[in-house]
Amino acid sequence: MENEIFKLRKEHVNFKKLLDLLDTQLDLLHRGKAPDYQLMTDILYYMTQYSDLIHHPREEAIFTLLAARDSSVLENVAELTKQHHTLGESGARFYEKLENIINSESEIKKLQEVETPGRLYSFILRSHMDKEEQGVFVLAEKLLNEDDWKKIKTETQSKPDPIFGEAIEDRFHLVCKRLEQ
Ligand SMILES: [Fe+2]
Ligand SMILES: [Fe+2]
Repeated sequence: MENEIFKLRKEHVNFKKLLDLLDTQLDLLHRGKAPDYQLMTDILYYMTQYSDLIHHPREEAIFTLLAARDSSVLENVAELTKQHHTLGESGARFYEKLENIINSESEIKKLQEVETPGRLYSFILRSHMDKEEQGVFVLAEKLLNEDDWKKIKTETQSKPDPIFGEAIEDRFHLVCKRLEQ
């Protein structure tokens, strides 16, 4: 059976590539140049649809089993779970803002409106992933057994990754092109 933690780590690597793309667009904006709003919107759409709906719930199923084995992780997993909610909410809000910018004729594409939430989202998600990789992931590999992994797999939803999976969803061709550049 494929190691779930290996899969989650691989997804973190993918998410970081997307955050790098996002950061590059925010740098352009910061320097007064025009960023690619469609690219940013597509990245946030992916994060809200794949990271928030598939990746995070799988981690939370792991957190639950882990906390039952070792109560010392309780505080840590509570904090990580809270961050999932924060990321979900702020990601959805930021996505909506980017969509509005694309659909509006107005020139109100202000630094604070896009750069501030964008930087914050990127920063929180990056540090969240680092914390998971160094803490709960290591512990889960040590403490969880085959039955636990089967349980996690059956109890959580899965769907093919629309960017890094075998088939790229139409919406994400622009993102893929940029990832290749
Ligand atoms: Fe997470
Ligand atoms: Fe994660």
